[in-house]
Amino acid sequence: MSDTTTQQTGYQAWLEFHPVAPGERYDQYLAYSRIVCTEEDEVIHTAAQELSHGIGKLLGRAISVSENVEGGAVIALGTFGGGNALVDRTFGDETRSVIKPEGFAIKSDPASGSIVIGASSASGVLYGAFHLLRLLSTKQAVNGLDVIENPVNMLRMINQWDNIDGSIERGYAGKSIFFDNNRITTDLTRVRDYARLLASSGLNAISINNVNVHQWETKFLTGEYLPEVAKVAGVFRSFGIKLFLSVNYASPLEIGGLSTADPLDPAVREWWRVKAAEVYAAIPDFGGFLVKADSENRPGPFTYDRDHADGSNMLAEALKPFGGIVIWRCFVYNCKQDWRDRVTDRARAAYDHFKPLDGRFMDNVILQVKNGPMDFQVREPVSPLIGAMETTNQMIEFQITQEYTGQQRHLCYLVPQWKEVLDFETYAKGEGSSIKRIVDGSLHGNRFSGFAAVSNIGNDVNWTGHLLAQANLYGYGRLAWNPELSAEAIAEEWIRLTFGGDEKIVSVVMSMLMESWSIYEAYTAPLGVGWMVSPDHHYGPNVDGYEYSKWGTYHFADCHGIGVDRTKATGTGYAAQYKGANYETYESVESCPDELLLFFHHVPYTHVLHSGQTVIQHIYNTHFEGVERAEQLAVEWAGLKGSVGELVHKHVADRLAEQAAHAREWRDMINTYFFRKSGIADALGRTIY
Ligand code: GCU
Repeated sequence: MSDTTTQQTGYQAWLEFHPVAPGERYDQYLAYSRIVCTEEDEVIHTAAQELSHGIGKLLGRAISVSENVEGGAVIALGTFGGGNALVDRTFGDETRSVIKPEGFAIKSDPASGSIVIGASSASGVLYGAFHLLRLLSTKQAVNGLDVIENPVNMLRMINQWDNIDGSIERGYAGKSIFFDNNRITTDLTRVRDYARLLASSGLNAISINNVNVHQWETKFLTGEYLPEVAKVAGVFRSFGIKLFLSVNYASPLEIGGLSTADPLDPAVREWWRVKAAEVYAAIPDFGGFLVKADSENRPGPFTYDRDHADGSNMLAEALKPFGGIVIWRCFVYNCKQDWRDRVTDRARAAYDHFKPLDGRFMDNVILQVKNGPMDFQVREPVSPLIGAMETTNQMIEFQITQEYTGQQRHLCYLVPQWKEVLDFETYAKGEGSSIKRIVDGSLHGNRFSGFAAVSNIGNDVNWTGHLLAQANLYGYGRLAWNPELSAEAIAEEWIRLTFGGDEKIVSVVMSMLMESWSIYEAYTAPLGVGWMVSPDHHYGPNVDGYEYSKWGTYHFADCHGIGVDRTKATGTGYAAQYKGANYETYESVESCPDELLLFFHHVPYTHVLHSGQTVIQHIYNTHFEGVERAEQLAVEWAGLKGSVGELVHKHVADRLAEQAAHAREWRDMINTYFFRKSGIADALGRTIY
C-alpha cells in the first residue's frame, strides 16, 4: 500500500510519521540519522528497523542501521551488558536497577550528542524505540533526554473474537485479518502491520481466536493447524508479543476421542498434558489458554459437577511445566432466566460463582473479569468481584469493540470510561484499593495480573471501521502501560500522531473525543439501566428488546416507575457485594449517584434526582440534548474540511451524519415509550411522537 493512499485512508494509523517541516525541529532531528544496533536479536532488530523507518519518514531521508558506534551523534539501542558500548557506557547500576523486565531508559549522551536507549530485555528496547518515535512524531525536544519508563501492568493483552470462517463476533470493521475461508491466512503482511500497531502502543499479548470456540477452531490444537498458528506466533514474537489461544473446554471429547472432559478424570488430565507439550513443541514461547467455560452455553466443568477451580487448575497443571498460564473468564451467569423471577440477578452472578473459590486456584491461573457486572454497557457500576478475591490472580477485561457503544458507527471514545473504572475505590483493603492497584497486582501481591480487551479491528483499510475509533485501540494500549495517563493526554498524543500537529485539528478532535461518551450515553439507555437495544445484533434502540427474554437484562419499566431494585433491604442484594462505603452509597436511594440510579433502584418517574430534575424529565432532557450534541459533532468536524485528507474527512463526516440520524431515532423511541408509559408530558413541550 503506497503512502499516498495511506494518508487518505488511515491505514498507518498512529504510525503515520508526518514529515517534520523545516524549522519545526527538523535541524535538531537531522543530527540523528544513523541507528547503532550491535545485538543479534529479532526484537532488537525490529526496534532498529522501526526507528530507521519512522525517522526516515519524519525527515524524508534514508536512515541507516549499523554496528559502528564511532562517528558523531547516533541513536544507539540495546540491552544492558548486551555489547553496545554506548548503552553500557550510558547506563550505570542505579538506572539498571530500576528498569523492570519490559521497561527502558532513554538518555542523551553529552559526549557524543547521541541518544541512547537501554533496557534489560529486547522488548524493553523495542518499547524504548517506540517511545522515542512518539516524542519525535509529536515534535518534542530530544536534547537532554532522561527518561525512565516501566509498564505498570504485566499482561497487556488483546482478545480477538475472530472465527476461522473470517467472521468476527461483535466485529464492526470488516472481516478477520487472521482467518479466511476456514484457514489461517497465508499472507501475514496485515498481521505484521497489526503487531506493529499493538507493540507501538505498549501491548504484549494476544489471543487470536474467539472465546466462543466452535468446531473448527477447536482443531487449532491439532497438527492440522498448529504449524500455521506457529507462523502467526512468529510474527508477533518479533514485536515482543506472546500468542495465546482460546480453547474449547470440551476439546478432549471433540478432538481427543475421549468420552468425558471431567477435569478430575486422569485420562482427561493426561490428554491436556500431552496437548500442552505438543503446542509448546510448535510454539516454545506460547502464552497459554484463554477459556470461556460454563458461560452462554459453552461447555465447562459444571457438566461433571465440578467447579471453575477444578476446571482451570487442570489446564494450569498441563501448562505449568512450560511456563504457560490459564486465563479463565468470569463472564458466567444464568442465561435462561424468567422476567417474573425478581430474585435471580445476572449482576450478582460472577461474584456469587467465583468469590467462594478464592484460594483454590493455582498460581498460573488468572481470572479475567469484565469491568462491569453485566456486559460492557455505556454505563454500569464497577464489577464488585475485582479485588474481592485476595489470593487469586485477576485481570480486568474491557471491550474496545463498541458492541453496546455505537458499533464504530457512532463516535464513542472509551478511555474516559475506562479511567473511571480504574480509579474506582473498592475499599478491598481499606482506602487506597483502587481497581488499577488490583489489576496491576500490587494490592494483593499477585503473581500475574493485567489488562485484557476485546479488539475493535478487522480488515477494513483503516482497521477500525470508524477512523476515530482507532483512538480507543491506541488508548487502551497506553492505559494498560500506564493507567495514570489522562484521557486527554492520550487523546492528544493520538491526534498528533495520526493527523500531524495542526493545532486546529488537535483542539477540534480533542473536544469531539472527550465529549463523545457522554453524548452517546445521553441519547441511549438512561441512568445506568442499560440495554434497550435490539436483540442479537445490539445496535439501535428497542426499549423492550430484552425485557421479556431469558437473558436477565431487565429495566422493569411500568406505568409507575423504572429500574431494578438491587438493594439488600428489598431487592436482589447485589449492592451488598460492595465493600464499606460503596455498599452504603449504592444501597440508599438518597446517596446512589444519579448515573447509576436505575441500576440499583426502582423509582417512580417523579423521583427527583440530585440534579434537581425528575427521572422522566431527565430522560426527555438528555435525549433532546444528546441529539443536539451529536449533530454538533458533525458541525465541528465539517470545520476541518481541507485540514485533513479529503477521503478521511468524507469518511468521518459520513459516519457522523449517520450517528446524528440514529441519535434522533434513539431519542424518539425512548421519549415516546416513556411518555406513553408514564403519561407525564415534557415540561418544555417539545415534540414527542
Ligand atoms: C457478550 C457478547 C457475546 C460474547 C460474550 C462474551 O454477551 O454479546 O457475543 O460472546 O459477551 O463476552 O463471552
